[in-house]
Amino acid sequence: MNLLESTSRTLALVGLAAFATGLGCRGYESEEPPIHLIRNMDTQERGKAYRADTTGLFADGRIMRPPVPGTVAQGQLGEDLLLEEGQDEEGNSSLRFPDAVKAGGSLPDTLIRRGQARYDIFCTPCHGVGLDGQGPLAQVGFDSNPRLTIPPPSLHDARIKTMPAGQIYAAIKNGVNQGNMGSYASQIPLLDRWAIVAYVRSQQKAKDPAVEMEGGVLLVVEATDTASELHGSQLYAAKGCNACHSLDGTRLVGPSFKALYGSTRSTASGDVVADAAYLAESIKEPAAKVVTGFPPVMPQLPLTDLEIESLSLYIQSLK
Ligand code: HEC
Ligand code: HEC
Repeated sequence: MNLLESTSRTLALVGLAAFATGLGCRGYESEEPPIHLIRNMDTQERGKAYRADTTGLFADGRIMRPPVPGTVAQGQLGEDLLLEEGQDEEGNSSLRFPDAVKAGGSLPDTLIRRGQARYDIFCTPCHGVGLDGQGPLAQVGFDSNPRLTIPPPSLHDARIKTMPAGQIYAAIKNGVNQGNMGSYASQIPLLDRWAIVAYVRSQQKAKDPAVEMEGGVLLVVEATDTASELHGSQLYAAKGCNACHSLDGTRLVGPSFKALYGSTRSTASGDVVADAAYLAESIKEPAAKVVTGFPPVMPQLPLTDLEIESLSLYIQSLK
């Protein structure tokens, strides 16, 4: 091969390459993929997340489909009542902790320490570092009014020392009395809620050795279709009236129920005699007649007429 021959061959190759390149960039778009001899299924009609549906398959024009109604994500079925809601098989607050948080049948130290760390973050503002209900939000503000109208209770109160673990759990998950204390379900995940309950119990026990880690007073409201004093006494504890109304004359958030029935009450709407109608009204519509000297903070609880009747009978019995 002489020099001339090889130069012209090189030129021909370069020319061919330039021509091919030119073919490839004609300046207009093509729906076709680039030269791709064996396509297999590399290129096919499909939808892309967040783009419009070009296939015409979906009437709403969205390619990404919402989950079918009622879909449950893995591990989120929530069928374990004790673990998820703090309730036993009968639907009462459970005295026991769920097995899932125990190790070898008892509550491990790691759980309690985790609970302390979470308690310190979420609960101390109101219930205080010492669980005494004296957190900064519970104390008196610069205007010498309490910052919270409804005082957070001391978690060393007899009522809370005997409160079933499942009810403390439910307080964290669902809140208390229609939001007097808010729900922490979104900030505190399931296992951390139990860790906090374990920490609270361990602190109660540290102060009072009689406290049982897995014990307390079971709140049972027996099903009934007739109003009665007994039914009322069960509701008094189960519905949390006992958080604000004592039976022995002590002033809590609200007036004591002791000797309430038949007495004359001074209210924002004038003096009234506390008869059965007044009791029923006070429970059903707490704001109707607010007792003088008390803040209008009683929650309107979802109670049936039968339950209100039973509560009224119970209050009537308290001399
Ligand atoms: C913003 C203030 C605030 C914070 C924070 C708070 N609480 Fe409360 N808590 C309250 C108030 C107020 C009540 C009383 C509500 C009532 O009786 O109506 C209460 C009541 C309770 C009760 C009694 C429940 C009952 O049925 O009577 C428990 C138990 C409790 N809190 C635990 C906790 C735990 C555990 C945390 C942390 C996860 C926490 N609280 C965080 C304000 C707070
Ligand atoms: C968060 C605290 C709180 C809870 C929980 C609560 N109450 Fe009250 N209740 C009050 C306060 C405060 C008053 C006084 C102000 C008023 O009349 O609204 C009151 C007033 C009453 C009165 C009128 C008392 C009087 O001295 O004349 C009755 C009756 C009553 N509550 C029944 C109940 C029953 C029954 C429950 C449970 C189902 C309940 N309350 C739960 C705070 C509470």
